[in-house]
Amino acid sequence: GDVTSLRGRLLSWYDQTKRDLPWRTAALTESDVNKRTYAVWVSEIMLQQTQVATVMDYYIKWMKTSYTLRSLRSVSVQEVNEMWAGLGYYSRGKRLHEGAQKVVSELGGQMPKTAEDLVKLLPGVGRYTAGAVASIAMGQVTGAVDGNVVRVFCRLRAIGADSTSPAVTEALWTLANTLVDPDRPGDFNQALMELGARVCTPKGPLCSQCPVQSHCRAHRKVAVEQEEGAQRL
Ligand code: ADE
Repeated sequence: GDVTSLRGRLLSWYDQTKRDLPWRTAALTESDVNKRTYAVWVSEIMLQQTQVATVMDYYIKWMKTSYTLRSLRSVSVQEVNEMWAGLGYYSRGKRLHEGAQKVVSELGGQMPKTAEDLVKLLPGVGRYTAGAVASIAMGQVTGAVDGNVVRVFCRLRAIGADSTSPAVTEALWTLANTLVDPDRPGDFNQALMELGARVCTPKGPLCSQCPVQSHCRAHRKVAVEQEEGAQRL
């Protein structure tokens, strides 16, 4: 049906156009789920409020300097801050540091295994970050609604109401959990983020390049309005 077709279109577009980002490689090639979760957690914390292009070098350096889950524990706050210099929002580095210490000392070195536990146990991890990490690193079938995804969904469903209201926020999360592909949840969520960042942009969206144009109510509305306008002429 409709949902299956939307998933298929979005995922094949993603397969064809996705960027090879270092955390995606890690999520695919690291066979140890605990290490994979750590790698994706680091990336999602760095990506909060920060563009992919800016994060790249910091991420590579962080993982190289090997800030593994265990080694991060013995790194000083000062070193973490130096590593973070230029990335901004320094509390993120501090929370990552605190979180790693907690995982090692209180959770036996095991990263939390569900989105729910990620929110509960790690500082600086909210609903979005938890959904992203759980789906990308662990294959948990859960949505992940960030700012880009809010915009994509509001257009897809022609939601004109205030997208920051609690009711709309809940509706968008429900939609995310309904649409997410059960076989490829991490790719599906990243495809939505990517669509929002590169095609369904805030201004001047590139609808002609959109893989889910035929599913988009906002696009349909605009097309109808243009037709009506043409008829009046
Ligand atoms: N923004 C936040 N998480 C991302 C991801 N995994 N890929 C691309 N952009 C992102």
